[in-house]
Amino acid sequence: MGFPATRLRRLRRSAGLRDLVRETDLAPGHLVLPLFVHTGSARESVDGMPGVERLPIGEAVAAARRAHELGVRAVLLFGIPPWKDDQGSAAWDDEGVVQLAVRALKSELPELVVVTDVCLCQYTTHGHCGVLRADGSVDNDATLELLARTAVSHARAGADAVAPSDMMDGRVAAIRGVLDEEGFAERAIVSYAAKFASAFYGPFRAAADSAPAFGDRRGYQLDPANAREALREVALDIEEGADVVMVKPALPYLDVIARVRASVEVPVAAYNVSGEYAMLKYAAQAGALDERAAVLEALLAIRRAGADIVVTYFAQEVAEWLG
Ligand code: PBG
Repeated sequence: MGFPATRLRRLRRSAGLRDLVRETDLAPGHLVLPLFVHTGSARESVDGMPGVERLPIGEAVAAARRAHELGVRAVLLFGIPPWKDDQGSAAWDDEGVVQLAVRALKSELPELVVVTDVCLCQYTTHGHCGVLRADGSVDNDATLELLARTAVSHARAGADAVAPSDMMDGRVAAIRGVLDEEGFAERAIVSYAAKFASAFYGPFRAAADSAPAFGDRRGYQLDPANAREALREVALDIEEGADVVMVKPALPYLDVIARVRASVEVPVAAYNVSGEYAMLKYAAQAGALDERAAVLEALLAIRRAGADIVVTYFAQEVAEWLG
């Protein structure tokens, strides 16, 4: 009588049926909480990211402990150094802010996975992710040694994994080589492999004081128009020794996450970046969205696209909601 024999609504009739056939899950164990640590003694709010703060080391340990108790397994550390120079040398200072924070976290929470962002942009006076040539362009190969030095310094402090976010060519190989030489063969590299030159990093740059003083990052980060090129970046990073590859941002790049997932066997991470956080927070604050429902849906979508790991400023709240 013209009725469809296949009725998909049969399996949607009750919560029990829906639970039984759910294809994707979102659990605290999938999440990584980014933390901004600084050498000051007070918490500082971050413009553009309501609820996110720059934290003194002790407070960062407390925040990590709260998240860890709720089942979040990992944090990603960003340092805001007390001084900058044109090379970014505070990045590889064994007594630098990230190094001190890693030691504090690993001594107080040995089970917590501590990942450190490896880049020079927070540490350079000019705000670029590498060192500059006289003409103002970023010198790829001169930057590699500085990134490797930074990664080793983080490993020496106790980092479980280092996450290079600079987008220089060859940085994974350079970092892997030096980590192995220095006795850190067992420390992992989470590569920001497919990192796009995105407007969605705006609030982060205010948080980390890392906006480029001139120009932009399009000479080293991926063009948002290019998905095939993202797959080349991912393949190269894996060849160079990346243990996990990351796509960043996440929500505007779900197609890239899905394509990366389909093309590699290593774990895939996705970074739900500062601008994505801001969009949801401000929409919720304005009463336009139900924050909890919208955030859970957005993060589930990132998992469904193929991310094993989701880096998100919502990690603490989501872990509470799911708990
Ligand atoms: C540093 C770095 C950035 C982010 C993570 N690492 C900013 C940038 O590349 O300009 C962005 C994270 C976010 O927006 O949440 N290279």
